[in-house]
Amino acid sequence: MNRRPFIAGNWKMYKTGPEAVQTATQLAGLCSNIKNTEVMIAPTNLSLPLVAQALKNTDVKVGAQNLYFEKQGAFTGEVSADMIKAAGAEYTLIGHSERRQYFGETDESVCQKIKASLGAGLKPVFCIGETKEQREQGNTYFVLDKQVSDGLKGLGLGELSDLVLAYEPVWAIGTGLTAGIEQVEKVHKHLRSLLEKLFSSDLADRTRILYGGSVKPENVKDLMGIEDVDGALVGGASLDAEKFINIIKYNE
Ligand code: 13P
Repeated sequence: MNRRPFIAGNWKMYKTGPEAVQTATQLAGLCSNIKNTEVMIAPTNLSLPLVAQALKNTDVKVGAQNLYFEKQGAFTGEVSADMIKAAGAEYTLIGHSERRQYFGETDESVCQKIKASLGAGLKPVFCIGETKEQREQGNTYFVLDKQVSDGLKGLGLGELSDLVLAYEPVWAIGTGLTAGIEQVEKVHKHLRSLLEKLFSSDLADRTRILYGGSVKPENVKDLMGIEDVDGALVGGASLDAEKFINIIKYNE
């Protein structure tokens, strides 16, 4: 199966609107001759419409970092999937470990958010990953299996064609520590067979599985060389267009 490489930047809580537009515009210019790789950036929800507008006729796509699963209502401070979609996003991150860690995101709310995204026509980038303690206790696969099966509970095969999975070991995020090639290889292979077990071999074959956690220009080529790694979800190194383009052009 030929899965299109996908390199995504998670800008977390960085950049004001004007700063985000400036970096996005610079990045789009640098990406003008990128053909095979799909590129996406996820700015803050506040910058999202500005960035989407700036990237309108370019090859760089836009995603949100989070949304709330209810359609509308008295939910002060929240933003719905329809609002994100109307702002110009094509993707949305769901279940990032920082949301699980600091904002009480659970497998159940992740599942509701994935459903809300798909219902609004947004493609979810479903983030999973184990903590350092969970890995040290030998629970990595148990944790990942639970995150995947609970996060996708109640979803049918036909609804998941736009799903992207992102494996981000929590201990590798923002720490400079990247999981070893062999560790990444094993987990990605495991995740693909889990998708096969839960859904079908065709879906497992088609679903792109990204790696995230201290991806940088120096290690992206080795990571992308792993058979079951179809892309990268990049935090810190995506904030600078010149640096991020060196990740996007990992093959050159
Ligand atoms: P870093 O690339 O800064 O480690 O962040 C990874 C991440 O959390 C992307 O979602």
